[in-house]
Amino acid sequence: MNYKKPLDVLLREAAETGEGSLKRTLTSFSLVALGIGAIIGAGLFSLTGLAAANNAGPAVTISFIIGAVGCAFAGLCYAEFASMIPIAGSAYTYSYATMGEFMAWIIGWDLVLEYALGAATVSISWSQYLTKFLHYFDITIPHQLTMSPWDEPVLVDGVMVHGFMNLPAVLIVVSLSLLLIRGTQESAFINNLLVVLKVAVVLVFIAVGWQFINPSNHVPYIPENTGKFGEFGWSGIIRGAGVVFFAFIGFDAVSTAAQEAKDPKKGMPIGIIGSLIICTILYVLFSHVMTGVANYTEFKGSAAPVAVAIAKTPYIWLQQAIIVAILAGYTSVILVMLMGQSRVFFTMSKDGLVPKVFSDVHPKFQTPYKSNLLFAVFVSLFAAFVPVAIVGEMVSIGTLFAFILVCIGIIWMRKTNPDTPRPFRTPWVPFVPIAGVVVCFTMMAFLPLDTWLRLAIWMVIGIVIYFLYGKKHSVIRKGYLNIPKDPESPKF
Ligand code: ALA
Repeated sequence: MNYKKPLDVLLREAAETGEGSLKRTLTSFSLVALGIGAIIGAGLFSLTGLAAANNAGPAVTISFIIGAVGCAFAGLCYAEFASMIPIAGSAYTYSYATMGEFMAWIIGWDLVLEYALGAATVSISWSQYLTKFLHYFDITIPHQLTMSPWDEPVLVDGVMVHGFMNLPAVLIVVSLSLLLIRGTQESAFINNLLVVLKVAVVLVFIAVGWQFINPSNHVPYIPENTGKFGEFGWSGIIRGAGVVFFAFIGFDAVSTAAQEAKDPKKGMPIGIIGSLIICTILYVLFSHVMTGVANYTEFKGSAAPVAVAIAKTPYIWLQQAIIVAILAGYTSVILVMLMGQSRVFFTMSKDGLVPKVFSDVHPKFQTPYKSNLLFAVFVSLFAAFVPVAIVGEMVSIGTLFAFILVCIGIIWMRKTNPDTPRPFRTPWVPFVPIAGVVVCFTMMAFLPLDTWLRLAIWMVIGIVIYFLYGKKHSVIRKGYLNIPKDPESPKF
């Protein structure tokens, strides 16, 4: 039998407050900042240059627009669900209410790829930029401690050096996990500061760089295809959209904070759609300036394409400021991803699908501290020992898969629960969700075969765990719901 979580139970859970539940502290502003916090990061500061140099040329701006349209379809579906079922589990919970427990498990397990591995990916890039930044002060961290054992060895003073572990990546993950334990409000405050800093630098880059755009760098705007699919021309623009898709990942993390939002019905759509719109505008302007200041061919192979562009202006000092902002920007991405991960497992644990330890709330800080600690260890292992390209592609495929299921869920929910109040309604259903599925699936199809294999292996592991643990401990399957009958009664 396919067990579903009744909608009225979900709505009661969402209405809970007090001990054992999460604290409602986030305003609409904080939610938008949370979205921007999770969105602007490695995708903008590293991948824009790669997509311009290898796939789209100056038309990387069009790649960004295509990526944004794909995300907007999914974002509109997320917004309906998040305002309707404002609970911490995000896509996992939406699936539980629509497609049943097994699919919910699949998506909850899949979200680990997006959030936990997303945090790992960005922490590895963070470590690369920290190393660059410390060079300005003649501080060098030994290469062995900044690379995974599976990274390509580097030649240092004539000697091949292999990586041992990426220590700075581990340090940032552990520090941010500790901040999250300290409190959601405190974390949101730090996140707001980091977001202001990174948006400010993005704006400065756009404003300063605009004056140094050399129009000849934008000609031709769409470089001719080289004869290979994905290398310039329109196929390059589409491939580029798949690459810069990573830059949009994170807007859905807003929905994982639904139980901590002061007014989730209003705040959720504002947080999700608002952050997506703001970031899209910034991305298009940023990439327009970047490919205007330097020629797209100059970004080839550069890990810090923004620095390449700045070197073309008289404002070299901006390079250091930009690196500080990039470090701040990545920090907020890691913070929100780690938070999203613990919130999804919080909800899964309440449902009995993962052990109770993931929903133990700290008596004083009211945060799921044990979950934060366990994920600090899990994410650190990936950050320390796995190369960035492998985790990065796992994040993309996992996220796209989640988006597809959320889009399908909207059509499903409209059929099964047509009359439930929806403070925000996805427009043009079923066109928008179907378009979301098509766009996301197309982007998935462009990812390499071994990434698909890794997804399959991850899912098989998840299914085994479900049958060995989740199915046996499922609260709904046990025939009782350990949930108060009304929002005023004692908790859990
Ligand atoms: N969107 C996030 C980034 O680009 C994951 O870093």
